[in-house]
Amino acid sequence: MKKRVLSGIRATGRLHLGNYLGAVKGMLELQNNPEYETFYMVADLHTLTTPFETKDFQSKIKDIVLDYLSAGLDPEKCALFVQSHIKELLELTYLFSTQVTVARMQHIPTFKEKIKQYPKNVNVALLNYPVLMAADILLYKATFVPVGIDQEPHLEIAREVARKMNEKFGTDFPEPKRFITKGDYVPSLTGEGKMSKSISGSSILLTDSLETIKERLAKTPTDLGKGDKVPDSGGVNTLLTLVEFFEGKDKRENYEKDYLKDGIKYSSLKEELAEAIYKELKPIQERRAKLERDPEYIEKILKEGSLKATKVASETLLEVKKAMGLV
Ligand code: TRP
Repeated sequence: MKKRVLSGIRATGRLHLGNYLGAVKGMLELQNNPEYETFYMVADLHTLTTPFETKDFQSKIKDIVLDYLSAGLDPEKCALFVQSHIKELLELTYLFSTQVTVARMQHIPTFKEKIKQYPKNVNVALLNYPVLMAADILLYKATFVPVGIDQEPHLEIAREVARKMNEKFGTDFPEPKRFITKGDYVPSLTGEGKMSKSISGSSILLTDSLETIKERLAKTPTDLGKGDKVPDSGGVNTLLTLVEFFEGKDKRENYEKDYLKDGIKYSSLKEELAEAIYKELKPIQERRAKLERDPEYIEKILKEGSLKATKVASETLLEVKKAMGLV
């Protein structure tokens, strides 16, 4: 039997380079490897745990689907679907939640961050976020999950749930591992933390024009361009990291030598980097423009993806219900 892979991205806005390098590249690699059966979704239910707009929610979901497809997800090779369309998921989430303690959930770093970010919105679903994610993964008995490094604590919960279910009820869940890509941590353009949708000026979107990319890079803070140690944090580090991803390791090393010797001219670094990023994004944007004109095709793909996913999901759920004595 083929090993299974599952991944998802929340519907909080269009994808940026962090999502692309950290998750989507891994999703592509596994989709193209015939040893794996891949399931990729838009995590609309997870999106509800933080404040959201009802009005444009459907278009946000479609944005992720369009970004996925234009970045190269191939519906011939993967099942592409919307998380909430798989009805079995919430049932499994509930069953799993009976096996996880409140204390364990309260200690998850992402939960603590969200409390700080939205102190008035500490809802029960937010506490249950990792359990929903464990159900996402284990519903398909996925062994690999291509996601960024920030999701590691959630994967740890998925492994704990798998272990506990297997020990207590005799199920056969694999312990899922993160599939690691080279770009699993993309720093923010602001020079602080990781590239993120919710921090303004932090990211470059897959749909950004060359002009916009230049403007965004222009705002990245730099220094004098010269010194006796190349910075390993801040805006300069962000620029060098992006240089490595889009222009290669050699290019980065050259800049690092310049930094220690003659100095870097950031205006030309930024100019070249913007061109290199745009070169990779242009074909993605062209595919997106075509897909945007064909909503029926998108609907068809999502329907097919849901069917494939539901087939596996219903088998797993039935196994768990039997194992727990519910049927
Ligand atoms: N929590 C993930 C994120 O914020 C999104 C997600 C939800 C996910 N369910 C998943 C990722 C299952 C991988 C597998 O990026």
